[in-house]
Amino acid sequence: MSEVSATAPGKIILFGEHAVVHGQPAIAVPVRSVWSRAVVRPGRAGGGAVIIAANLARTIVVRPDVQSGDHPLAEAARILCRYLGRPLPDVYVLLHSTIPVASGLGSGAAATTALMRALCLAIGVSLDDATLNSLVYEVEKLYHGTPSGIDNTVIVYNRPVYFRRDEGMQTFAIGAPLHIVIADTGIASPTHQAVGDVRQLYEAEPSRLGLLFERIGEIVRLARQAIANGDVIALGSLMRENHALLRDLTVSCPELDMLAAVAEEAGARGAKLSGAGRGGNLIALIEPECAGAVTEALLRAGARRVICEVLS
Ligand code: MEV
Repeated sequence: MSEVSATAPGKIILFGEHAVVHGQPAIAVPVRSVWSRAVVRPGRAGGGAVIIAANLARTIVVRPDVQSGDHPLAEAARILCRYLGRPLPDVYVLLHSTIPVASGLGSGAAATTALMRALCLAIGVSLDDATLNSLVYEVEKLYHGTPSGIDNTVIVYNRPVYFRRDEGMQTFAIGAPLHIVIADTGIASPTHQAVGDVRQLYEAEPSRLGLLFERIGEIVRLARQAIANGDVIALGSLMRENHALLRDLTVSCPELDMLAAVAEEAGARGAKLSGAGRGGNLIALIEPECAGAVTEALLRAGARRVICEVLS
């Protein structure tokens, strides 16, 4: 076997996070300027699969059976081999990622996707995207408990998706390029915690939360139409409303609220948190001529890193 590698992009959720866990639609797009990459090299005969996760500063020895304290990436390798009916190969996997962990950019799903794709290449099998997506989803459950499936879907298919839990994904039209600024609060926030807290709140106050989820679902449908029409003014105000509803769901935080206000003051059409919230990343919709001013203002206000993406 010679060296093989595979790469998977990050993602942002444009509209609909959290409500999507409860059956509403959501819209997500890949972010290709950040990525996870798995390089597979021949390993020691009989040594099994060893994953060297550079960013986590961790070496994960994949045992054939689940071990306590196992990393989800070990289970990812086992899930894949179990599905293929193959033993774990004797390989070293070097995993490297530019996607910050627990920041709403899909680091877990991207690492799993890159790992599974590279292992398939090493084993010499090919998997269609639908099958790969269902295997990555199994691993997402280990990270998040009750994921909607949107993160793995947008990352595996590497294209914009309109997603609903029970219906899967649809593609959608982008009428005019959308310029998005992504600003990292630098605050790591585990998805399972925020998703679990929203679920508890829903159980405590089903009718209030049900109405919030429904309004978010309506925003997603309106946003899909506004994206098709290239209507950035409507999109900006839908982003602002979506962010306010996420605040009502208790998943914003002072830093996200502050960065949203800063982006809008610097000329963004609208801004909202993206992903699980309570930290992670803020996204702002801008006109291209505002990119410099919005980026500068966000960095000055404390954003750790700012990425500009054009969706077309
Ligand atoms: C996380 O990127 C998005 C959430 O809606 C969780 C999920 O959909 O599984 C918060």
